[in-house]
Amino acid sequence: MPLQHSLALSPENSIRLDQMVAALQDKGFALERSKDMRAFLQGFGFRDWESFSESWNRLGLDRYMADGGRYRKRRYATYALTGGRIERKRHQPHYQSRDYNLLNGGIERWFGPIEDAVATHPVMLSVLNAAHLLALRMTPASTQPDSWHAEVHQFRIEAQAGSQARPTPEGMHRDGVDWVMVLMVNRENVASGITSIHNDQREEIGSFTLETSLDTALVDDHRVYHGVTPVEPIDPARPAYRDVLVVTLRHA
Ligand SMILES: [Fe+2]
Repeated sequence: MPLQHSLALSPENSIRLDQMVAALQDKGFALERSKDMRAFLQGFGFRDWESFSESWNRLGLDRYMADGGRYRKRRYATYALTGGRIERKRHQPHYQSRDYNLLNGGIERWFGPIEDAVATHPVMLSVLNAAHLLALRMTPASTQPDSWHAEVHQFRIEAQAGSQARPTPEGMHRDGVDWVMVLMVNRENVASGITSIHNDQREEIGSFTLETSLDTALVDDHRVYHGVTPVEPIDPARPAYRDVLVVTLRHA
């Protein structure tokens, strides 16, 4: 699958990209609201959102939760972004050292693969393209890698009355990568789930809620920590969940 380049950007999307880059350079994070993010991704072939987002109904239970929680479902895929191409890598375990994830890190965790049709979906490719372009713009030419290693996670956090459903059970953290992109997919009948951003001294420097589909947080993982507060059902009698797509990039 070909990677697109910034030359293909419309004038409006060039301005959007410049604004995201400026925010990342200034604060180490950026928040893009749904409308702008959708327009930006459309420049990379974004379409057919419904078939993409409904795939969150088919995730598998995360069996590695050290807190014993059974409220997180997920799927996982990795890609190489190299030489103008997006190549999915062989399915592999997700590994975070305990330096980055004291709760669930330190072991290889196997999650179900992202379904093929989802992994090659126009929305997925548009998101990978956008993340790649941002990473390129944020990285000096002298330190550009030949290839970026992208990890993609589909997450669903299910909120149940009376028990804590924590989008980031490890608390405020870094992912141990270069860049993190979190896109809201579905927020169904959940309250709270506030994202906060913290500096090196762990002081809060920003907080916001990813409310609607495609609200997106961009994070410089070298500069800031991030975390999300627990979610709870608004109506305990109905299903309640928070679905996000997380894409990380690091030097391969
Ligand atoms: Fe994270």
